[in-house]
Amino acid sequence: MEDIILKASSGSSRVLFSESFRNFKNYIPEGKNAIIITDATILKTYPNVFEGYPVIEIGQGEKHKTFQTLQIIFDGFLKLNVDRSWFVIGAGGGIVCDTTGFAASIYMRGLPFGFISTTLLSQVDASVGGKNGVNFGEYKNMVGVFAQPAFVICDPKILESLPQREFISGFAEIIKSAAIRDMHLFRFLEENANKALLKDTAILQKAIYESVRIKATVVQNDEREKGERRILNFGHTFAHSIELHMGLMHGEAVAIGMVLAAQASVKMGLLKSEEAIRLKKLIEIYSLPTQFNLQKELVFSTLLKDKKREGDFMNLVLLQGLGNATVQKVPLNKMEEIVHDLC
Ligand SMILES: NC(=O)c1ccc[n+]([C@@H]2O[C@H](COP(=O)([O-])OP(=O)(O)OC[C@H]3O[C@@H](n4cnc5c(N)ncnc54)[C@H](O)[C@@H]3O)[C@@H](O)[C@H]2O)c1
Ligand SMILES: [Zn+2]
Repeated sequence: MEDIILKASSGSSRVLFSESFRNFKNYIPEGKNAIIITDATILKTYPNVFEGYPVIEIGQGEKHKTFQTLQIIFDGFLKLNVDRSWFVIGAGGGIVCDTTGFAASIYMRGLPFGFISTTLLSQVDASVGGKNGVNFGEYKNMVGVFAQPAFVICDPKILESLPQREFISGFAEIIKSAAIRDMHLFRFLEENANKALLKDTAILQKAIYESVRIKATVVQNDEREKGERRILNFGHTFAHSIELHMGLMHGEAVAIGMVLAAQASVKMGLLKSEEAIRLKKLIEIYSLPTQFNLQKELVFSTLLKDKKREGDFMNLVLLQGLGNATVQKVPLNKMEEIVHDLC
């Protein structure tokens, strides 16, 4: 399968789909020393892959996507005399990639970096698009930069060791890509669900490739999220409060968020109810949740803190038919009505 080259103002990125993660060495620019940033699970699962390279291990989970972790990385860089002749590689899921990309981008005003993307979510979403950053206090991804990894290796084989719940969760973002942009991918996901869930390499490769292609096209048109890139937030406006209050994984919350956003689209007269049902069915086939139990006051109060809010309006991503997303400015009182009806 061919590579995808994403070209944006912050740089260009080569995303590889048919390359083994074990061959990452071939993509380190000539003459550069390389350093790996990863976590304990990856080191334990793939003990020999990084032999011969210095490794910095960072903590796991969202609570480690912090300034403290940046400090650990910079301490490690200083101990190894890392300078601008070095290349930094993040090997892991979204936490490792987001943190590595940010650390590399600001150390000595920027070292080049690349990713070995090891979760389905990071292959189809986190490691592509150039958003790097860490959390600050309770605010997710509050501090960061736009910078493109020189390469991203998306090898479906590395997903074999991924825990099932993490794996399933990644499908929510693939279904999202299909729902906002691409009925071919939507039908492909419908027709190949069993094989995809059994980690059939060819099917996974195709689903990951198509999903990245959609994201790369959107990012190239609007890297800094002034307009079109907002459609990638389909399902996410509702997902944030669900993720926060129901203790679900990101993809699981996005799955429920997409069902809600589709229902809201039906209410706004943009989507046929059969189409909303078809999306819900696809989400269910991939064993993702579609139901939630939260009080409307809680959902609405979380929405008010959302980054997509602009004064008395919310930018809500809705579907004008399956495969065709639109961003609508919805007044807050209308939003309250929608939440009231949905909850
Ligand atoms: N930058 C972006 O555009 C963007 C987009 C979406 C999400 N994100 C970020 O991504 C993060 C979530 O990423 P994630 O879902 O990949 O979670 P994660 O990075 O926490 O990885 C999940 C867990 O799986 C383990 N793991 C990873 N790969 C494995 C493998 N191949 N085998 C066995 N275990 C493995 C990890 O060690 C970790 O414990 C969030 O912080 C989110 O904000 C960023
Ligand atoms: Zn997401």
